[in-house]
Amino acid sequence: MVWRRKSIFKVFKYIFSISVIMGVLVGMLFILALEKVDQLTSTDNFCSNSCHPMTRFVANESIFIQSSHRATSSGVQASCADCHIPKGLLPATWAHITDGTRDLWSLLVNDFSSEEQWNAARPEMAYRVRDWLLDNDSHTCRNCHVAVKPSRERGQRQHELAERNSVTCIGCHFNLVHDEVEPRESFLKRVEINNKL
Ligand code: HEC
Ligand code: HEC
Ligand code: HEC
Repeated sequence: MVWRRKSIFKVFKYIFSISVIMGVLVGMLFILALEKVDQLTSTDNFCSNSCHPMTRFVANESIFIQSSHRATSSGVQASCADCHIPKGLLPATWAHITDGTRDLWSLLVNDFSSEEQWNAARPEMAYRVRDWLLDNDSHTCRNCHVAVKPSRERGQRQHELAERNSVTCIGCHFNLVHDEVEPRESFLKRVEINNKL
């Protein structure tokens, strides 16, 4: 009897070890797969060409192509994902799931076949991006821009004030690369509350 109990215990131990190893392997594969999906869905090609409105009204607009983030002197371009998707596997995956679902839904329920239809919806979309950047302290901008010292005095003064009053980048640098959208009242209020410039 003692012998049998011992051997059953051994079998259990064996099964348990195999399950743990399998679990770890499956987990690693899952993370690698997520990493790959994030990569594939973060390319300019995917963001610009996966749906008609992005291709027509965003990526191929001359204001975007000629913006300082695309036509740079160094040749380094900010990609859609550089500004719109946070870094890190979990935040990036979360952004892909939530934004992706919303964008897909929006494509299904709206008709964006004309520029007028797109432009009618644009302010709401721009507000959402700006609020997101306000909420996360312009997280994606800061991945590239660290301790910026503007060359001109006006900029230097504004940056000093911004630092002192915790105004985040998007508070002043909106209308960066896309067609202009007037900031809405609630955005300006939030920037003002933080800053008292
Ligand atoms: C991938 C890196 C990257 C990201 C992300 C990025 N930038 Fe830039 N930014 C650049 C580069 C490169 C330039 C151009 C520098 C040059 O050529 O002189 C630039 C230029 C600028 C300028 C000066 C020119 C102008 O258009 O007024 C501002 C302001 C600026 N960025 C703000 C931002 C803000 C705000 C964000 C976030 C919404 C952001 N950047 C995100 C790399 C980046
Ligand atoms: C209070 C408003 C304000 C805030 C907040 C602010 N900036 Fe600026 N920024 C300016 C002004 C004004 C200039 C100068 C524009 C000019 O001279 O044409 C400037 C210039 C710049 C430039 C161009 C620098 C150069 O001269 O080559 C970059 C890049 C930049 N800002 C990035 C940022 C980033 C990144 C943040 C957030 C960490 C930020 N700014 C926050 C007002 C602001
Ligand atoms: C340098 C950072 C930056 C890059 C690069 C960038 N965006 Fe944006 N995007 C913004 C900001 C900031 C806003 C908020 C509106 C504003 O102030 O311009 C925005 C707004 C938007 C909007 C809302 C509608 C609108 O016109 O404001 C869409 C859609 C969008 N971006 C898609 C894209 C796509 C697709 C790409 C790549 C082809 C891209 N963006 C590249 C910073 C960026």
